[in-house]
Amino acid sequence: MKVALFGSQPYDRRFFDEALQHQPDAARIELVYHASLLSLETAPLAQGSEVICVFVNDVLDAEVLQTLHDGGARAILLRCAGYNNVDLAAAAKLGFFIARVPAYSPEAVAEHALALVMTLNRQTHRAYARVREGNFALDGLLGTTLHGKTVGIVGTGKIGLATARIFKGMGCTVLGHDPFPSKQFEAIGRMVDLPTLLAASDVVSLHCPLTDDTRHMIRRDTLVLMKRDAMLVNTSRGALIDTADVIDALKARRLGYLAIDVYEQESALFFQDRSSDIIDDDVFQRLMTFPNVLVTGHQGFFTIEALREIAAITFDNLACYMAGEACANRLPLA
Ligand code: NAI
Repeated sequence: MKVALFGSQPYDRRFFDEALQHQPDAARIELVYHASLLSLETAPLAQGSEVICVFVNDVLDAEVLQTLHDGGARAILLRCAGYNNVDLAAAAKLGFFIARVPAYSPEAVAEHALALVMTLNRQTHRAYARVREGNFALDGLLGTTLHGKTVGIVGTGKIGLATARIFKGMGCTVLGHDPFPSKQFEAIGRMVDLPTLLAASDVVSLHCPLTDDTRHMIRRDTLVLMKRDAMLVNTSRGALIDTADVIDALKARRLGYLAIDVYEQESALFFQDRSSDIIDDDVFQRLMTFPNVLVTGHQGFFTIEALREIAAITFDNLACYMAGEACANRLPLA
């Protein structure tokens, strides 16, 4: 069984090669790594591969799916939880088997959200550079004590819950918003509607999936509901935020801080070394000019434990497909 892995990085190769050793069917599986993202241009690379393995920024629209199908592909294995990059209706028509990794160390993403908040709040990224240059002045590094502050969690699923537990442990009041309230969350914090959460929170952290309902949920008319000088954190999907509106709120000195691990147009930038290139994305470059903005390149999931889990669950999904067995991680296609 030939498996084409798109958007694969050296670390994918490391953890997938390692996990392959533990597969009972290892001799029947051939992994073919492609560094390029899946797109209409790169889809022909998968010619002859029955299984296609992809990540968050690979494109699986109707045309790409048709090209893959024409080349012999029958199964798509997502190395991630979100599947907003897949045209599910087109996949259903072609009869694709699609499975995902619904959870891989939710704590890894939650801990990264905490890292972003703490870095930006206490300016440790600037302090690091200063101290290395022999500058021990504190002016410009002033933060706030998070103990006693209110943190709003939008989306109280696996990652939202893990994040809530961390902030609760730090002595924060935790609020949550989710159309499906969870008992586990209610043991830690209070569920409220979105306007109440935005108005009351010193830190707003987004953990809901990207859907038609949640696209640009943070935009001009929701930003004005937020506390002046609040911190907005997004480790979920870039398009939850209207970046142009957020830039306006930063320029107006309304929004206090922005910390993002995801960005709406990230596919042209993230997971690549672009340090010698001219970056054409003026919106992204404008973000880079703010001292109160911190951006990381979609690394929330990037821990040894999470990468091991992604590889192991992807191989479980592959084993189900190869055996024609029911698969709990299979996406139900209409
Ligand atoms: P989950 O499915 O456990 O939780 C998502 C929650 O969002 C659910 O409780 C759902 O009811 C809620 N939700 C849906 N619509 C909502 C709305 N309109 N408003 C508020 N809440 C809403 O998913 P999980 O595992 O917690 O992941 C959350 C997101 O994190 C994923 O969708 C993915 O986009 C992102 N993610 C980011 C990673 C990174 O490396 N930065 C890694 C893994 C996931």
